[in-house]
Amino acid sequence: MKEYYAARAKEYDQIYAKPERQADLRLIEQWLPSRFEGARVFEIACGTGYWTQFFAPVSKRVLGLDASAETLQIAQARPNNESVQWLVGDAYALPAPREPYDAAFAGFWFSHVPLARQKEFLLGLNKTLRSGARVVMLDNLYVEGNSTPLIAPDPEGNTYQLRKLADGSSHRVVKNYPNEFDLCDLVASFAERPTYTTWQYYWAFEYTLR
Ligand SMILES: C[S@@+](CC[C@H](N)C(=O)[O-])C[C@H]1O[C@@H](n2cnc3c(N)ncnc32)[C@H](O)[C@@H]1O
Repeated sequence: MKEYYAARAKEYDQIYAKPERQADLRLIEQWLPSRFEGARVFEIACGTGYWTQFFAPVSKRVLGLDASAETLQIAQARPNNESVQWLVGDAYALPAPREPYDAAFAGFWFSHVPLARQKEFLLGLNKTLRSGARVVMLDNLYVEGNSTPLIAPDPEGNTYQLRKLADGSSHRVVKNYPNEFDLCDLVASFAERPTYTTWQYYWAFEYTLR
């Protein structure tokens, strides 16, 4: 995963140029900032900072963490992202903040978390947040005929995609498609007001930490 995204950094944003997804993207770009107004936000797996650029201007502060220095370099150079702090780090070993964050955002990250590590990731994230913090995850719906086809699942039930890069290399990447019930079930022991929203190609899941 880490190596794949480091190698893909320069071509990553092509994913946001797909013509059929533009209408959804404009809607989400409008919607997302409203979730983080005035908040100190911890963004997990921020990649090239595509989503950061929309909520950073209305947030109080943002720390964007990603495993890849290559993607963070691109994130840093974007307009609107100048005030964001960036950190190379591991989503499964998040650093303890001096003051717990008001909110967290993870875009297109949770689908890459193996089923066996989903709870571990969420519990680790909880430790960085204050009680009452808002968590928002955004990710892909599987759209037949449009999404990259899935290849055979592993014995644990994780699904995968075979992804090709411009240099001709191909990478087998975990890509899970949790539904609303899976997500609600995962956070039931620590979350309030779980809310699942869908667009044509994407889902968002948000909750408040108890
Ligand atoms: C699908 S990209 C999403 C990027 C960005 N959030 C977006 O929505 O455009 C997944 C990101 O996860 C990062 N990543 C992979 N493994 C990670 C880990 N263990 N900890 C933190 N980030 C990781 C990759 O470097 C990549 O930038």
